[in-house]
Amino acid sequence: MLSQTVQDAINTQIHHEFYSSYLYLSMSAYCDSINLGGFAKWLRVQNGEEGEHAIKLFNYVTSRGGKVVLQALEQPPVEFGKPLEIFTAVLEHEKKITASITKLYEVAVKEADYPTQFMLQWFITEQVEEEKNAMDILEQLKMVGDAPVSLMMMDRALGMRARK
Ligand code: FEO
Repeated sequence: MLSQTVQDAINTQIHHEFYSSYLYLSMSAYCDSINLGGFAKWLRVQNGEEGEHAIKLFNYVTSRGGKVVLQALEQPPVEFGKPLEIFTAVLEHEKKITASITKLYEVAVKEADYPTQFMLQWFITEQVEEEKNAMDILEQLKMVGDAPVSLMMMDRALGMRARK
């Protein structure tokens, strides 16, 4: 059985994951609107992954006999600027998610909830990868600058992203 404190903290994280999904979906729509279909596809895959993260936590709460409480989603931004600015925002967002997972882990440690600590190790590893993916793309964007041909090549490469 989950303690109320751990349950509340996981429900908050479920909200963060669904918001992440919503944010990346909005970024994807924006990229489509500026004819960057490859960037849009990459962000759609990310949108799907974030939804899976939320459901992973959802299923965990249920499996421990807890109660999932879904919260209202705030509206994400609709304009994101140039690709460099989009991926700066992606990296900043992922850093926030890493911080919230860390906070959640600390709650589970304080409550001596070992199964939750174990479950969260998957998320801790995932965040390392999520930040690295965003950093790699951001570094490439810094290299190519505003060069249209390079951006088109990146767009094509990002459009090849498949689901894990
Ligand atoms: Fe589910 Fe990108 O954190």
